[in-house]
Amino acid sequence: MLDVVHNYDRLKETIDWEEMRDRAFNLWRYKEFMPIKDYNKIISLKEGGTPLYLCKKLSNELDIELYVKHEGENPTGSFKDRGMTVGVSKALELGVNTVACASTGNTSASLAAYAAKAGLKCLVLLPAGKVALGKLAQAIMHGANIIGVNGNFDDALYLIRQASESMGMYLLNSVNPFRLEGQKSIAFEIADEFDFNLPDYVILPVGNAGNISSIYKGFKELFKIDLTKEVPKMIGIQAMGASPIVDALKSNSRIVTPTENPETIATAIRIGNPVNASKAINAIIESSGFAESVSDDEIISAQKEMARKEGILCEPASAASIAGLKKLRKEGIIEPDKKVVAVLTGHGLKDPETIINSCEPPLEVESDIRKLIEVIMKIK
Ligand code: F0G
Repeated sequence: MLDVVHNYDRLKETIDWEEMRDRAFNLWRYKEFMPIKDYNKIISLKEGGTPLYLCKKLSNELDIELYVKHEGENPTGSFKDRGMTVGVSKALELGVNTVACASTGNTSASLAAYAAKAGLKCLVLLPAGKVALGKLAQAIMHGANIIGVNGNFDDALYLIRQASESMGMYLLNSVNPFRLEGQKSIAFEIADEFDFNLPDYVILPVGNAGNISSIYKGFKELFKIDLTKEVPKMIGIQAMGASPIVDALKSNSRIVTPTENPETIATAIRIGNPVNASKAINAIIESSGFAESVSDDEIISAQKEMARKEGILCEPASAASIAGLKKLRKEGIIEPDKKVVAVLTGHGLKDPETIINSCEPPLEVESDIRKLIEVIMKIK
């Protein structure tokens, strides 16, 4: 796995954070930290600059100060747009004509949109029948060439890596270090919004493990150029049916044994063999963080809680971070009074089917006022 290394001495000398803050609040506010040479070629849909909400009710209940960074408010509804603005701009810089990815859904929706804007051909491989409807609809509408694979995400990624290499397509999964550079901007925005009074913990769902590695890299870069004195503890949450990183860390090992048949309602993180596992494990251990797994029931109840107590609709994978937070708080692993940022990685509208299946259906009534009143009277 490759990593982008900047000239940190030069960044230390040249970065004027206050001057950067005069720029619009989106990812490109931090352009000096991005591996792009020609800023005129940037393909942007104004990604990043997502809101950080203080969750008052959940903070009170959990006895912490809880903020959520709602990545669902990115242009295609997930944090993937941060990676794709950089990755697709890089693809243009390199002069490729086809970009490709395997995906559990969001990566493909995002790549399809950015490739459309860039005028590049786009090929995506999806685990057939296992992608949330909203994500599939996005990739279709943005004109990607879509192929369903009879297998899981890990199989699809294995195949597209080989196909990209032999057919000269530019691969934009999180094996691409340029894409990951974009995702580290989540750390910059958290630091920016809190004026460098960083949270104690940053907690997020983990699938292929690119995002947790990127966010940690972002915090470390701020530390390396003396803008911060510490980094938050990174907490990765996986679904119980797809938790190879949690399993490794809980047995005090850095060696990940892939989960053969990953399964979870949170299809975005239905991944058994995360390619960035070693980077993620490093981020968690180095920052003195944790990893935890949560059940599908815990995920769905956390998704409902966010929606019904805080007014925020996130997708199941994103709710895993809230479910994990509740569990770690209950176990006392996260102490009271701590400042926590949970990253809600994708919008709830991405996966309407899971919502419909996990909630009570709407009431129905004949077109008759007396019957309507009867039904309303029964509502608690
Ligand atoms: N949350 C959501 C909503 C995701 O779509 C993903 C990954 C993750 C969390 C996990 O992030 O892989 O960086 O650890 N989705 C990928 C995709 C795999 O294809 O859309 P990660």
